Amino acid sequence: MTHQVRAVVARGKGAPVSLETIIVPDPGPGEALVKIEACGVCHTDLHYREGGINDDFPFLLGHEAAGIVESVGEGVTDVAPGDFVILNWRAVCGQCRACLRGESWYCFNTHNAKQKMTLLDGTELSPALGVGAFAEKTLVAAGQCTKVDPTASAAAAGLLGCGVMAGIGAAINTGNVGRGDSVAVIGCGGVGAAAIAGANLAGAAKVIAVDIDDRKLETASKLGATHTVNSKESDAVEAIRELTGGHGADVVIEAVGRPETYQQAFYARDLAGTVVLVGVPTPEMKLELPLLDVFGRGGSLKSSWYGDCLPSRDFPMLIDLYLQGRLDLDAFVTETIALDEVEKAFERMHHGDVLRSVVVL
Ligand code: APR
Ligand code: ZN
Ligand code: ZN
Repeated sequence: MTHQVRAVVARGKGAPVSLETIIVPDPGPGEALVKIEACGVCHTDLHYREGGINDDFPFLLGHEAAGIVESVGEGVTDVAPGDFVILNWRAVCGQCRACLRGESWYCFNTHNAKQKMTLLDGTELSPALGVGAFAEKTLVAAGQCTKVDPTASAAAAGLLGCGVMAGIGAAINTGNVGRGDSVAVIGCGGVGAAAIAGANLAGAAKVIAVDIDDRKLETASKLGATHTVNSKESDAVEAIRELTGGHGADVVIEAVGRPETYQQAFYARDLAGTVVLVGVPTPEMKLELPLLDVFGRGGSLKSSWYGDCLPSRDFPMLIDLYLQGRLDLDAFVTETIALDEVEKAFERMHHGDVLRSVVVL
């Protein structure tokens, strides 16, 4: 059997997305059909529609989603019809060297659903990040579904599928922020704001938010930043040093993805401190640092991939904290929109007041 559903498709490079009817097959072995309830709009979706990822148009966009499993294919035991799940874009293999080391976020053998969703004329769709969740239903590998408490709001839960998990994970997993640490976060968009929330969950004593936009700094304060620095008005490195007794922060999280802000992060950390790069740079960006400073300052320079998360461990735990009122995921949902408003959300993306627009179905 197949299912005809409405979905957001990017047909060609730079062209506005369109709402189309697509055909979704029933799940095959190891696959799950998920009825989508909510899906956040991420920069990566826009990147796909601009042709910045690859040219495999048409794309079925959307990858920060939560929904209800409608049916599962042969051999699927971890999830069942009726389960409320958060989707992730990496079904890990469990067998490669990274998985065997217990670092499955580096798995180099991830797999998505094998069958293809298509347009009505049979043209194969490329689901963005292997998810394709700006659709009433989507087909994924069962390993991309993590069951969580169904009383959570779908709009909030879906955010853990990408940007918010990346930020929280940059603090709690990659940065290994500990009780009493001082943490600085450079760039307070959706990802940086989530890193601030993560630093708080981990028990940081000082959480310094740095941005060039005062509206982002206001949101950062609401999410638990103890200090804010507008780096247009004052020097970020000096300000962070001053706020940490002159020595720099234990952990600095870079959530912009630019050489200038990475340099700030590098110099704003304490000797032996940690820098976590979670912002995504573009291919032409280069970093110039005196090698002697890299040598002399010690510490560790890390990058965080999808928050180095383990969905089966992190998603249910964070949803529990959300339901207990200890993690304000709702604060990340700036607006809820309909499926046909994704293009408008792209336009609003770079306005200072949007952390996340979320499509609710
Ligand atoms: N210094 C400090 N903050 C800056 C600077 C700068 N030089 N330039 C931009 N910013 C701030 C912006 O004001 C904004 O608040 O960085 C933030 C970026 O936020 P978003 O554009 O909302 O992006 P976000 O979704 O948070 O993602 C951040 O991670 O996933 C990647 O591709 C994504 O590289 C991006 C980064
Ligand atoms: Zn994303
Ligand atoms: Zn693997």
